[in-house]
Amino acid sequence: MSAVASELPSWAQVSEKRVAHIGRVTALLDQWARALTLPSQEARAWHDAGIYHDALRDASESELRALAGDHAGYTTEMLHGPAAAARMIAEGESRAELLDAVRFHTVGSSAWGRLGRALYMADYLEPGRKFSRSDRAYLASQVPHDFDATFRQVLRARLEWSLREGMRLFPEAVALWNTVR
Ligand SMILES: [Fe+2]
Ligand SMILES: [Fe+2]
Repeated sequence: MSAVASELPSWAQVSEKRVAHIGRVTALLDQWARALTLPSQEARAWHDAGIYHDALRDASESELRALAGDHAGYTTEMLHGPAAAARMIAEGESRAELLDAVRFHTVGSSAWGRLGRALYMADYLEPGRKFSRSDRAYLASQVPHDFDATFRQVLRARLEWSLREGMRLFPEAVALWNTVR
């Protein structure tokens, strides 16, 4: 069992491929937390955000809907954020920033502080994704030096992709963009 797999909660539902993604996201967050010399509690929360964000990524839609509650505008792919946060609360998790990071990682939130933004970036910039490898590696290297500008670029890239693909823009993502542009 990989180190990451042993850290996943017992209720996690993830394929092997997904475990590898979770490992890369968590490693990137750890790397940034070290470079930013975050206090140990904050670094721990960044680490846990990586571990938990996709813990229910491969759960069934009915299970996700039951856990996530009323998220009428959400597509199935977006439900695993609120579902994981709900499950974490049920298990006694109370770190609000961590819960908000996990809950909204699939859409974005303008209420996010540094943790939510870091998770959103790590999820997109982790090196296992096949597109725009060198651009994304460069952005990942910039996070400790220029966190806000890098976040803006990542958000812009994700919104641009949604527009190009003709996807719907979610109001949460638009509101977030309006706070950082
Ligand atoms: Fe996710
Ligand atoms: Fe992810």
